[in-house]
Amino acid sequence: MSDRTGIFAGDDPFAIARSWLAEAEDTETNDPNAIALSTVDTNGMPNVRMVLLKDIEDDGFVFFTNYGSVKASEIDATGRAAFVLHWKSLRRQIRVRGIVRREDGEKADTYYRSRSLKSRLGAWASRQSQPLSSRTALMAEVAKVTAQQGTDPARPEFWGGYHIAPLEIEFWADGAFRLHDRFRWTRDEVGTEWHVVRLNP
Ligand SMILES: Cc1cc2nc3c(=O)[nH]c(=O)nc-3n(C[C@H](O)[C@H](O)[C@H](O)COP(=O)(O)O)c2cc1C
Repeated sequence: MSDRTGIFAGDDPFAIARSWLAEAEDTETNDPNAIALSTVDTNGMPNVRMVLLKDIEDDGFVFFTNYGSVKASEIDATGRAAFVLHWKSLRRQIRVRGIVRREDGEKADTYYRSRSLKSRLGAWASRQSQPLSSRTALMAEVAKVTAQQGTDPARPEFWGGYHIAPLEIEFWADGAFRLHDRFRWTRDEVGTEWHVVRLNP
């Protein structure tokens, strides 16, 4: 009989993740959806940076970025990424490792349209992760794209989403005397059955 009860209960790890994130939205000071996103370069050197998780779908996690960025080239080369969500207020973390594909259709258009005009123009102006001579040069680029794109810019082709379909999700919650609770969900392939195991802290 499983002792996976309380905040760990349920058959759907995406529902558990959504429920933990909803709790964190009430308790975190800011950015409860900030994830540390990890990739590796072609030499196997790890890389990590924060991005904002924008959706937890039925079978994956979605964030948005510039397709010319370092993270994008590392993801496009490997098709894999990992991330961790940590909430200090809840003393919990969720770890995810999975297979990544671009989310560059209607969903990306819809999210892009939902952003403020300044953010939409900012996406046009920034060659993310490329060297920049000065802040003034960036502001000049913003002025240029503002004149070109007007008040209803279309989503740039070089900007969109990524969808991470996990093969592994681990839910961790702080326990007294460092005796934390951990449950690891794994599956062999996307779309197949999950196996859940309790881990030592
Ligand atoms: C809290 C936080 C949220 C961020 N969210 C995003 C995001 O959603 N998308 C993004 O491209 N960069 C985001 N950034 C900036 C990235 O951390 C990073 O500087 C940028 O994407 C370039 O990374 P790269 O050179 O590894 O591609 C965020 C930074 C912080 C601190």
